[in-house]
Amino acid sequence: MAAARRQFSSRKDMFQALRDTILERLRNKLEAEGKASMVCSGGSTPKMLYPKLSDAKIDWSNVWVTVSDERLVPAHHDASNEKMVRLKLLQDRASDANFVPLISNDRNPRDAEKTVEERLAGMPRPHAITLLGMGDDGHTASLFSDDPDLQRGLDMESGRNVKAVVLKDPPEEAPYPRMTMTVPALLNSDLIIVIITGDEKRFLMEHAISGEDATQMPIRAILHQTRANVEVFWAP
Ligand code: 6PG
Repeated sequence: MAAARRQFSSRKDMFQALRDTILERLRNKLEAEGKASMVCSGGSTPKMLYPKLSDAKIDWSNVWVTVSDERLVPAHHDASNEKMVRLKLLQDRASDANFVPLISNDRNPRDAEKTVEERLAGMPRPHAITLLGMGDDGHTASLFSDDPDLQRGLDMESGRNVKAVVLKDPPEEAPYPRMTMTVPALLNSDLIIVIITGDEKRFLMEHAISGEDATQMPIRAILHQTRANVEVFWAP
C-alpha cells in the first residue's frame, strides 16, 4: 500500500485540511465506538496545528491523547513533548481529553518501558489517528538510524509498544534519553499522517519513498508497509 500524498500551496491550507481530517476521524470513531485515541508527534510543525483543534466540538472526555515519542525530562521541561501538547492542544474544550504520558519515575529504562506499556494498554486501539514528522536524517518518532537498539523498535513481532532510546550522539536541540513508540504500535492506527514542510523535506521524502532500508531511514518502516493507511501532507 503506497503512501498517499497531499500537497498544499500554503501551510494555512495544509493545517485546515489536517484539522478537517483529524476531527472527522475522531468524530467517526467516537460515534462508532464511544471512545477514540490520537497519537501526537513532537517537533516544530504540529505546534501550529494543535491550537486549531482545541476548540472543536467533539466529546473530548472520551478521547485519549498520547505522544509518538518523548524526551525523558520532567513534564514541565521545555523539551517535553507532553508539555507542548498540554499547552497547545489540551486547552479549551480539548482540556477534557485524557492524556497518557510516556515518561515514568523508573530509573532503569527497561522498568520505564514496562510502566509505560501498562499505561498504554488502557488506550482505545487501533488509534483513530497518528501524527508523525520526519527529521532531517529520516527519523520518525524517536526511531533513529544511529540507535544501536533500533531493531527492537522496528521488529513487527516484538509485541512491544514502546522502547527506551539512548543515543551516543543525540540531536543537539534535544540531547535527552527518550521513549518512543515502536513501529508496530505506530502502525496500530486507522490512519497515519506524516506532516512535512519545505523543499528539503520534500526531497528527503522522495528519497525515503524510493528506497527500502528502514535501518538507514526509519520513516521507511511507516511508508513501506501493508498494515496502516498513510498520508504524507506537505506544504512549502
Ligand atoms: C520529536 C519528534 C520528531 C519530529 C521530527 C520532525 O519529538 O523530536 O516526534 O520525530 O517529529 O524530528 O520535526 P519537525 O516537525 O520539527 O520537522
